[in-house]
Amino acid sequence: MIQLSYISSVAQPMTTAELVDLLQTCLANNQRDGLTGMLLYGNEVFLQTLEGEEAAVDTLYGKILQDPRHSNVKSLTRRPIETRQYSDWNMGFKRVDDEDLTHVDGLIDFSQKKFTFKYLAEHADEAQRLMDHYSSWDPLLRKIEEREEDVRHLRTMLAHARGCVEIATLVLQNVAAAGKTGQLDEEHLRVCDVALNALRQVPEMQTQAASKSFG
Ligand SMILES: Cc1cc2nc3c(=O)[nH]c(=O)nc-3n(C[C@H](O)[C@H](O)[C@H](O)COP(=O)(O)O)c2cc1C
Repeated sequence: MIQLSYISSVAQPMTTAELVDLLQTCLANNQRDGLTGMLLYGNEVFLQTLEGEEAAVDTLYGKILQDPRHSNVKSLTRRPIETRQYSDWNMGFKRVDDEDLTHVDGLIDFSQKKFTFKYLAEHADEAQRLMDHYSSWDPLLRKIEEREEDVRHLRTMLAHARGCVEIATLVLQNVAAAGKTGQLDEEHLRVCDVALNALRQVPEMQTQAASKSFG
């Protein structure tokens, strides 16, 4: 798969109805063609990221280049990707305004004044940061992502805790067997310490897990 981003200037300001028509086309076609991405519109500038199979992205980009609704289409980045950044959106859309722009991580003093074709075309890295920001701008999706992250963390901790308990069980069985035959030695004491150290980590993991779940 590839991810391609470009910037363009609208031919003439889009009415809401025109924008809605465009978005409906994007959603229907992109779903059909396995494409995802994000379209930002503000200050008469389009900033779009498309991702999917190379042939599908290139075919669409070919059409977009010819589209009379905008001009000065300038490609910013084109790179191979393993996973999609915008997997939830066949075409996410955001009309960008000043209020939004002041809250983008890593972009200090970025205002609508800079959301211009000239500025963004010359600062592809800042354009990319904007796109990255909007890939998780939806508060509900962000919340879901945070929960997913917590669940991943809990799984890892649970697996680790189980591993510690397995080690301790192994050691106890070994020590018990040696005790029965009167063969306890230094090595058994050493592995007892290993088991104790492993078990001491478990309460800490439980506390962390509880704070992730209920904190
Ligand atoms: C800024 C901009 C972004 C566009 N993005 C998409 C898109 O993501 N998917 C899409 O199918 N068409 C998009 N289009 C429209 C295409 O240029 C083209 O009109 C459309 O793909 C043709 O669809 P059709 O063959 O179904 O008529 C976009 C057009 C503009 C001006």
